[in-house]
Amino acid sequence: MNHEKAAFFDSQVDAPWADTPYSRAEKPKLDRLFLHCGSLTGLTVIEPGCGTGRLTRELAQAVGPTGCVLACDISLKMVSKARQCTCGIPQARVFHAAMEELDLKEESVDLVICHQVFPHFSDKSSALGWIAKVLKPEGVLLIVHFECRDVINDVHRKAGTVVEHDNIPDRDQIAKMLSAANFQIEHYSDDPDLGYLLKARRVLF
Ligand SMILES: C[S@@+](CC[C@H](N)C(=O)[O-])C[C@H]1O[C@@H](n2cnc3c(N)ncnc32)[C@H](O)[C@@H]1O
Repeated sequence: MNHEKAAFFDSQVDAPWADTPYSRAEKPKLDRLFLHCGSLTGLTVIEPGCGTGRLTRELAQAVGPTGCVLACDISLKMVSKARQCTCGIPQARVFHAAMEELDLKEESVDLVICHQVFPHFSDKSSALGWIAKVLKPEGVLLIVHFECRDVINDVHRKAGTVVEHDNIPDRDQIAKMLSAANFQIEHYSDDPDLGYLLKARRVLF
């Protein structure tokens, strides 16, 4: 686990970006995310970098009691809020761990949703390799941001902290990384109004 980054995100736990319930303006972005998930009922979903659990709760309600959402975060303060946020929803489990440290069975997961966390993976290729390993064949990876790539990269650069070099790679770079990890891109959009959404499926060659 990157402890320096964990401490940074601990310090952000009460920041409006982390802690405010989804606004009306964000609703179309959330709807688009769920549209690309398809039916979630009964699925096993991983949500790395769950933050305060805003999306975790929505996902857990969508998978229902026959499904399961395994969320994790490196920040203990975020985890603590996410556990409060999902309290009473048994299909939501929140771990204090880096995604890459989760001990999961190979080919056991239907969907991985990287919501506003992908730039923060220190080694993106190895993170994608880990995701490919736990996904079932034909399993889906969503990389989602509520802002477009330029805005996200700019915010991190200007933050001037431990996240300043955390980038969403450009389209060619991410396509190469995904292909090397046996993913096929099914949807790519980088929109100033709706944000960034990449959907890829694990394929067997
Ligand atoms: C920008 S925040 C997004 C939080 C939440 N997904 C949201 O949209 O509100 C990124 C989160 O990812 C966590 N994180 C960073 N690297 C991680 C990793 N390798 N595994 C799990 N969580 C990680 C951070 O602690 C932070 O809470």
